[in-house]
Amino acid sequence: MSQLKTISHMDDDDDIPSTPGKFKIDKSPYIHHHRIRWSSSVLKLSFWSLVFLGFIFLFFLRSPSSGDAAGDGYRRSLSSASWGGSAWEKRVRSSARVRSGNGISVLVTGAAGFVGTHVSVALKKRGDGVLGLDNFNDYYDPALKRDRQALLERSGVFVVDGDINDAGLLRKLFDVVAFSHVMHLAAQAGVRYAMKNPASYVHSNIAGLVAVLEACKSANPQPAVVWASSSSVYGLNSKVPFSEKDRTDQPASLYAATKKAGEEIAHTYNHIHGLSITGLRFFTVYGPWGRPDMAYFFFTKAMLQSGRIEIFEGPDHGTVARDFTYIDDIVKGCLASLDTAEKSTGSGGKKKRAAQLRVFNLGNTSPVPVTDLVGILERLLKVKANRVMLRMPRNGDVPFTHANISLAQRELGYKPTTDLRTGLKKFVNWYLRYYLPSRKSSAS
Ligand SMILES: *[C@@H]1O[C@H](CO)[C@@H](O)[C@H](O)[C@H]1NC(C)=O
Repeated sequence: MSQLKTISHMDDDDDIPSTPGKFKIDKSPYIHHHRIRWSSSVLKLSFWSLVFLGFIFLFFLRSPSSGDAAGDGYRRSLSSASWGGSAWEKRVRSSARVRSGNGISVLVTGAAGFVGTHVSVALKKRGDGVLGLDNFNDYYDPALKRDRQALLERSGVFVVDGDINDAGLLRKLFDVVAFSHVMHLAAQAGVRYAMKNPASYVHSNIAGLVAVLEACKSANPQPAVVWASSSSVYGLNSKVPFSEKDRTDQPASLYAATKKAGEEIAHTYNHIHGLSITGLRFFTVYGPWGRPDMAYFFFTKAMLQSGRIEIFEGPDHGTVARDFTYIDDIVKGCLASLDTAEKSTGSGGKKKRAAQLRVFNLGNTSPVPVTDLVGILERLLKVKANRVMLRMPRNGDVPFTHANISLAQRELGYKPTTDLRTGLKKFVNWYLRYYLPSRKSSAS
């Protein structure tokens, strides 16, 4: 029975035991406490040898795809989850090769995501080395992620199909390439989905972040890390505009809480291991190739299908407003963060001296009521929306976001230049080309 328990424990566990030693411990008292005739003990010995070999077989069978963790409710696509081999290593090396004089080599996690795709393309264009990593989970339509991957391939960026929780894979990537930087964008996004699948937030945003930072801390040389936090850490903070010095201890959603936890985890890896870490608090990023779970995206879809759209109102019929930030502005902020990141100071997991630790707001500094967003979409799509006003449910959304970006302005030279109407026009043009290519289209 104890062996059966061991088996089921292994199946439930995310982590593969690093050594089969625990089976010996289970096994040896059993054998020692029985004095049996010779033939019987040979039988027993062969039986246990088989069991033992079975475990070894299971171990090797599971380890390449251990990122496919149990319990987060995701299915991975059938084609996925294989890495390794000399052809694979060659692709990894070639994608990560720096092609300009003072270029950097960057591992981008969540590379087939919205921000990840745009950042990867922009880095590659400058001549930096870029390797993508993405698990292509089905939180939203994986076909959109595969199409972004095709776009990346055309730009010369290879996206490894794997999970940030796969420590073996991360180790391998750092063995093959001495990345100077890690742009960590892989995460479980969305505030409302946390009501349905809380475990996926812990899995990606906490366990996944720790797995990435562990790999970075152990790498030689240690890379500098830039990662996506979120404006949602401001939570119930009502002092506007939100400044990096404001309190962030009142998250309004599990998503926000995991991002806040990430900022604290970043602090410890900086403090103990000397990792140079920059956290970016993104404010409602939108644009072409965006995320279908965001309001501007699903409003567009619904309006083109003449469906109704539900618009949330704040308390007392107050307007809900967002500091919408166009993707190209965000990309500039990401690249400037990478370019101004100082080197990590640790080696062999130990810090030599204090390392850089930063947090920046990346917003647009002009919040727009969601009703105005709908008005702009109506004009661009030339349709009238069937608006249904609803009270905002208390499941994680905050009524208002507004970034103070003076710190990013000073340290990164960050200066957003795209207003919501201009940015939405580019989004709508992309949307029509991508989803309705037969329709002669261009938003005016
Ligand atoms: C924005 O933040 C800076 C500190 O980074 C502060 O000096 C400034 O007063 C803030 N601006 C506003 C409008 O609150």
